[in-house]
Amino acid sequence: MVFRRKAKSRSFNLRMKLVDRHGRHDRRFCYRNFGWFLCSLSLYFFSSYLISSSSSTTAFLHKTTVSTSRTSIVSSALFETNTTLSQQPRSQKPVLSRGLFNDLKVYLYNLPSKYNNDWLANKRCSSHLFAAEVAIHKALLSSDVRTLDPWEADFFFVPVYVSCNFSTENGFPAIGHARSLLASAVRVISFEMPFWNRSGGADHVFVASHDYGACFHAVEELAIADGIPEFLKRSIILQTFGVTYRHPCQDVENVLIPPYVSPESIRALESRKRDIWVFFRGKIEVHPKNVSGRFYSKRLRTVIWKKYNRHRKFYLKRQRYDGYQSEMVRSVFCLCPSGWAPWSPRLVESVALGCVPVIIADGIRFPFPDIVRWPHISLTVAEKDVGKLWRILKHVAATNLSDIQRNLWDPVNRRALLFHHSIKEGDATWQVTRMNLTLLDLISRNLCVSSPRLICLLHYNAASL
Ligand SMILES: *[C@@H]1O[C@H](CO)[C@@H](O)[C@H](O)[C@H]1NC(C)=O
Ligand SMILES: *[C@@H]1O[C@H](CO)[C@@H](O)[C@H](O)[C@H]1NC(C)=O
Ligand SMILES: *[C@@H]1O[C@H](CO)[C@@H](O)[C@H](O)[C@H]1NC(C)=O
Ligand SMILES: *[C@@H]1O[C@H](CO)[C@@H](O)[C@H](O)[C@H]1NC(C)=O
Ligand SMILES: *[C@@H]1O[C@H](CO)[C@@H](O)[C@H](O)[C@H]1NC(C)=O
Ligand SMILES: *[C@@H]1O[C@H](CO)[C@@H](O)[C@H](O)[C@H]1NC(C)=O
Repeated sequence: MVFRRKAKSRSFNLRMKLVDRHGRHDRRFCYRNFGWFLCSLSLYFFSSYLISSSSSTTAFLHKTTVSTSRTSIVSSALFETNTTLSQQPRSQKPVLSRGLFNDLKVYLYNLPSKYNNDWLANKRCSSHLFAAEVAIHKALLSSDVRTLDPWEADFFFVPVYVSCNFSTENGFPAIGHARSLLASAVRVISFEMPFWNRSGGADHVFVASHDYGACFHAVEELAIADGIPEFLKRSIILQTFGVTYRHPCQDVENVLIPPYVSPESIRALESRKRDIWVFFRGKIEVHPKNVSGRFYSKRLRTVIWKKYNRHRKFYLKRQRYDGYQSEMVRSVFCLCPSGWAPWSPRLVESVALGCVPVIIADGIRFPFPDIVRWPHISLTVAEKDVGKLWRILKHVAATNLSDIQRNLWDPVNRRALLFHHSIKEGDATWQVTRMNLTLLDLISRNLCVSSPRLICLLHYNAASL
């Protein structure tokens, strides 16, 4: 969506400015008479209209009819009256108003260090696969979108690092305490400041970079059984978990983000001759025990291992090896089968290292699809076809492999999937913040408590007028 708008951005910005000039005072009338909620939604509708309209600004100002006549009453009020906002109590400051007319502003809560920085004592905390929670926080701290004045914020970022308690046995993050740590952070912010209570958390943003996002469990069935904690259900979640079908663990407004891969580790590797044809290194269960009736990787990795372990074109390894990225940069195809969850850092690593990702994870949803054109840079193999993997890859190698490799090498893809300590234009955090309209869309929907937006708007209009 945002991508398509880019082409029109010059005239779009111009129109935004004009409306800002006319709209700023007029909104006050609306807020006073109809409440910030309704006005925000009306404004939201206008901006949507504005974006899709290609007519001139003047034409727009005369054409302020959205689908219902009730809306247009509010609209003309918006553009024809001006009164002062200074009499307005501060707590009624509209959440949505700024972002539509200026750039997005984010307020970062300054939580006690036990919620975040204390965890960084362990070096792995800021570099492992779930470290987007750290990276996004750090990048926002020094970013232009940050505001120190919560009253002017469009949204509120709650920095809690929940995945840095590494198990001494297997080295994986223990996320059992995630819920209680987050609940405690929400108690702190809702007690100390009015913003959480004002919106019920709907304009608050969290990162949940785990297997099953805000369900905070690595095993799907248990994740579903636990569900998304009640207090997070109205908020916006930046998460690595995403599927194209309805799933209880993404039944919350969300923005899909890539898993964390250290940009330093990628930069250290020179691309060279690709002498490995098909690469996979990772956990494989040959005799998988089921956990609550589910098999690791839905047995996909087992099938791959059994069928291709001895195949001379396949390089499959089960042992952990920290230098596996240096193997990926030597490979043509990198297998990305689902593990516990459909996503894995292999997706990002393959793209960053120029190895064609072969995605075997039915229903997976990809991050930033408007920027990273996944169908052009990867191969998707249906889970049921995993046994025909070699035939499929051979066919691609004989037909369009070089096209895919060329698309893959476009630096835009690599940039969009990596987080940096301070935001770089086009990088992953930048992609999240540039989705300001998407976020505002999410916020307005969130404020409508799960009603479809239009119905919600009509409902509030009917109630107010
Ligand atoms: C709105 O305010 C401007 C000055 O800011 C004033 O010139 C104009 O007459 C006002 N319009 C109305 C309708 O009160
Ligand atoms: C959204 O963000 C981009 C990049 O930060 C900025 O150029 C653009 O003006 C913003 N748009 C709005 C409507 O705030
Ligand atoms: C860290 O995880 C372990 C389980 O592996 C748990 O017993 C412990 O309470 C956790 N520590 C904190 C500070 O949450
Ligand atoms: C927010 O609501 C909670 C629960 O109702 C209450 O305990 C808290 O004091 C409120 N916070 C503020 C800042 O009023
Ligand atoms: C999982 O294992 C249990 C016992 O080991 C067995 O009773 C059950 O049928 C298995 N489930 C599946 C889906 O294979
Ligand atoms: C390459 O070919 C495969 C198999 O025929 C097809 O699924 C895929 O969409 C093609 N990719 C591109 C980028 O042309």
